[in-house]
Amino acid sequence: MPKVADFRGEKDLQLNEHTLSMRLERVAAHVPGGARLADIGSDHAYLPVALMRRGAIATAVAGEVALTPFLSAERTVSESGQDLRITVRLADGLAAIKPEDAITAISLCGMGGETIRDILERGKAHLSGHERLILQPNGGEQPLRQWLMDNGYRILCEEVLRENRFDYEIIVAERDGPVVYSEQELYFGPLQMQARSPAFLVKWQRRLHQKQKTLGEFARAGQAVPEEKVQDVARQARWIIELLA
Ligand SMILES: C[S@@+](CC[C@H](N)C(=O)[O-])C[C@H]1O[C@@H](n2cnc3c(N)ncnc32)[C@H](O)[C@@H]1O
Repeated sequence: MPKVADFRGEKDLQLNEHTLSMRLERVAAHVPGGARLADIGSDHAYLPVALMRRGAIATAVAGEVALTPFLSAERTVSESGQDLRITVRLADGLAAIKPEDAITAISLCGMGGETIRDILERGKAHLSGHERLILQPNGGEQPLRQWLMDNGYRILCEEVLRENRFDYEIIVAERDGPVVYSEQELYFGPLQMQARSPAFLVKWQRRLHQKQKTLGEFARAGQAVPEEKVQDVARQARWIIELLA
C-alpha cells in the first residue's frame, strides 16, 4: 500500500496529459529522447502520454499497483490514441517491466523515497543495469541515495524545485559504479551540495528552522524523548548549519 509520504494532497496537481505540473515537466526534461520508458506508479499516465504526444519517447509502459489509478491510466492512454505505443500494466513496481520491453529509462515519481527504494530493491531482477533512473521522491531522499550508492548507481543530475508550497527533488542516476558518497552527500545530494542552487539553499534554510523547532520541543519534553533521537536531530541541524555557513 502507498505510504503517507506518497501523497501530498489535492494541491499536488499533476494537471493533465497536455499540460504537466512543473514537477512532472522537470522529470520529463530528464527522460532521454527516443527512450523506451517505464513509468512506475504512473497514476493517470500523464507523464508517458505527454512525452509520447511530443514525440519525445519511442514506447512506454505505465505500471500501476492500484486498480483505480490503473483504470485511469488505461483511460488516458486510450483517449490519447496511444494504445499501440503505451502499454498499461497492473503490477507491483518493476514487475510491470518485461524483458521484451527493452526499457531504457525508468521513472518513479511522487512517492516517498523509501517506497521508491523498496520498489527498486524488490524489482532488481527486472533491471538490466542499462536503464537511466529518473526518481522524484517526496522526502526520504537519503535512504534512496544510499540504495543507489549500494547498488553502483552514480547520480548524474539532481534538482530541487518548489511547487504548491512543497519542495521536490529529482534524482537522475545510472549504474556505472562503484561510487562512494559521504554521509552528508547522501543527506543533501552530492551534486546539489556543489551547485548550491537558490531553491536548494532555501529548502535547507526552511529545514533548519524545522529542526530547531523540533529540538526546542524535545527540550521541553525532557526525558520523554530518547537521547538517541535528540542526538540524531541535533546532528542534522549541525550539518545544515555547516552547509549554509
Ligand atoms: C502520488 S501518485 C504519483 C503519480 C505520478 N507518478 C506522479 O508523480 O504524478 C503515486 C502512485 O504510485 C502508485 N504506487 C505506489 N506503490 C506502487 C508500486 N509498488 N507499484 C506500482 N505503483 C505503485 C500509487 O498507486 C499511486 O498511483
